[in-house]
Amino acid sequence: MRKILILALAAVALAAAQAQTVVTVATGAVGQELELSRAAAARYMALHPDVTVNVLETPDLTDNRQALYLQMFEAQSSDVDVFQIDVIWPGDMAEHFVDLYDYGAREVADQHFPAIIENNTVDGHLVGIPWFTDAGLLYYRTDLLAKYGFAGPPATWSELTSMAKTIQDGERAGGNPDFWGFVFQGNSYEGLTCDALEWVSSFGGGSIVSPAGVITINNPKAVAALETAASWVGTIAPNGVTSFDEESARNMFQAGNAAFMRNWPYAYSLGNASDSVIAGKFDVSPLPAGPDGSPAATLGGWQLAVSKYSKNPAAAADVALFFASYDEQKIRAVEGSYNPTVMALYQDKDVLAAVPFFGSLYDVFINAVARPSTATAPDYAAVSRAFYTGVHSVMTGQATAADAVAEIEADIEDVTGFPTGQP
Ligand code: GLC
Repeated sequence: MRKILILALAAVALAAAQAQTVVTVATGAVGQELELSRAAAARYMALHPDVTVNVLETPDLTDNRQALYLQMFEAQSSDVDVFQIDVIWPGDMAEHFVDLYDYGAREVADQHFPAIIENNTVDGHLVGIPWFTDAGLLYYRTDLLAKYGFAGPPATWSELTSMAKTIQDGERAGGNPDFWGFVFQGNSYEGLTCDALEWVSSFGGGSIVSPAGVITINNPKAVAALETAASWVGTIAPNGVTSFDEESARNMFQAGNAAFMRNWPYAYSLGNASDSVIAGKFDVSPLPAGPDGSPAATLGGWQLAVSKYSKNPAAAADVALFFASYDEQKIRAVEGSYNPTVMALYQDKDVLAAVPFFGSLYDVFINAVARPSTATAPDYAAVSRAFYTGVHSVMTGQATAADAVAEIEADIEDVTGFPTGQP
């Protein structure tokens, strides 16, 4: 009797499992990303009891995440249905994704920033639905600026350098030997490409490869920018900054041990969390400018793309569009300070109350500098690797900035065959 009951229950469970569509979403886990994605999955499942949404955690460093994805594409694996993809990837990865215009994206596409839709459009196909956008910002300690008599955040890198030094010296003398002036992303990876593009661009040194496909990195302003950045290592930034990613920088800043930090918007909400020692003691501003340049913020951000190898592309697309919808982006903005790609959310009073700089720094987001991923597709990853490897060698003192930019230029020439020139 008991055996029969167990068999009957097993049969019911099997039938339920068969009726259930499973959609696996590969997402990031930087800051609050994983929790927010799981919460979104739970909301989707509450509305769609016949669908199970699994959230798969992927590596923090975008380079490692890309390597994982490429392995899955190579195997034409159906294990992941929806991929969170970086703003730099649509051109390189388009062949592995469905056209979301075939799955209902046409009705919602015009809610998003046109430039981001454009970036996700490859040969007329929408390969990703924008999920959140990103731009580099300067985080600064308002309490410490006031303590040392500074009226506001630095407008130039040289101001940042001297303010950081003053605050660092004062805080150390005041009993905190672990205090540093400035932290950023100095590891040899895509994050360094983002930071270094800001330095170079803000010095007027161009954007590595121009949109027209000219390799411009070998120029005196880029050299000056990299020399300036290298001078920070071991002086206002810890030597270990050359192995920092976003979270290493945030951990130091959020522990109260840095005056300035370059990071993406996600660090704002975490820094103001109730358990944060710097809550209410910091603000954000545009990054500083170089001597004859103007501030530059690298454009980042993530989209949701549906795999061509998915067994349930329609269900997967529905999940992706739900995650990227107005309501979901609003939750992520309010709870995690992730920048919406839905334009109307920049006028939403709950969003602006939670993250005031989404309004006050709106221009920074709109004018962010793109990495040369479109001009160099499908070779962007190799171009970026050449750039960050060269920059890293300058930061660690292994190469001069002048030699490094010449080598970066030669490496990019090998990869792309593009002409060289000045920005
Ligand atoms: C952020 C950006 C992304 C960039 C990455 C680099 O996640 O959104 O575009 O590639 O940082 O670390």
